[in-house]
Amino acid sequence: MWLLTSGPTREHLDSVRFLSNASSGRMGFAIAEAALARDHEVTIVQGPVGLSPPPGAQILPVVSAIEMLENAARVLERGGVEALIGVAAVCDFRPARKLAGKPAKSEVSRHLDLVLNPDVLAELAARHLARVHVGFALQSMATPEEASAAFVAARSKLARKGLDAIVLNGAAAMESDESHAYWIPARGEDVDLGAADKMAHARRLVACIEELLTRR
Ligand code: CTP
Repeated sequence: MWLLTSGPTREHLDSVRFLSNASSGRMGFAIAEAALARDHEVTIVQGPVGLSPPPGAQILPVVSAIEMLENAARVLERGGVEALIGVAAVCDFRPARKLAGKPAKSEVSRHLDLVLNPDVLAELAARHLARVHVGFALQSMATPEEASAAFVAARSKLARKGLDAIVLNGAAAMESDESHAYWIPARGEDVDLGAADKMAHARRLVACIEELLTRR
């Protein structure tokens, strides 16, 4: 089975206000669809999005980063996960405490202490419960200087999170369906996936992950 984290996470300040990240969830669903088309079983630990998931994927809806971590860990502990793919745009911070109801904004601002969220993918990868672990790094690559810094940042995330490969994606992917992406494995040559839409990238990434699995 392939396990994905996907979409944004939300961190509630109170019952109605929350912090989140910009993420449509389309990349996660595209990878799920491409993996299902290759007859892989797919489970998605899914943050809140306004899209319908691909038919055939098992969806575990979550809101916060901690819920995402706990749900994905439960799936991994059951065994049988071949690939863990961290596509989610996890909100890096959460309020130190959630207030009840909808307090006045003056009350909320007096309690705006933020704490760092766990790194969901790094914590899961450290448990070594999937056969391969893959992450994403969305970096600005608008200039040659930014592009070379993006590779350095992506390789450092790959090592720091204990992954088998990371997908470096231009930050242009945030605004448009088309982006330039690179497959960066821990061992072996980088692959330039070219400029393509999310679905085309998803099919290529599924092939890269299958190849990674055959080398295990
Ligand atoms: N990720 C995660 N949990 C977090 C942050 C990131 O699981 N709290 C995962 C993402 O799903 C992605 C990868 O880690 O696969 C890289 O995310 P990114 O936001 O680029 O990494 P950060 O480690 O948060 O780096 P930065 O310091 O640049 O914010």
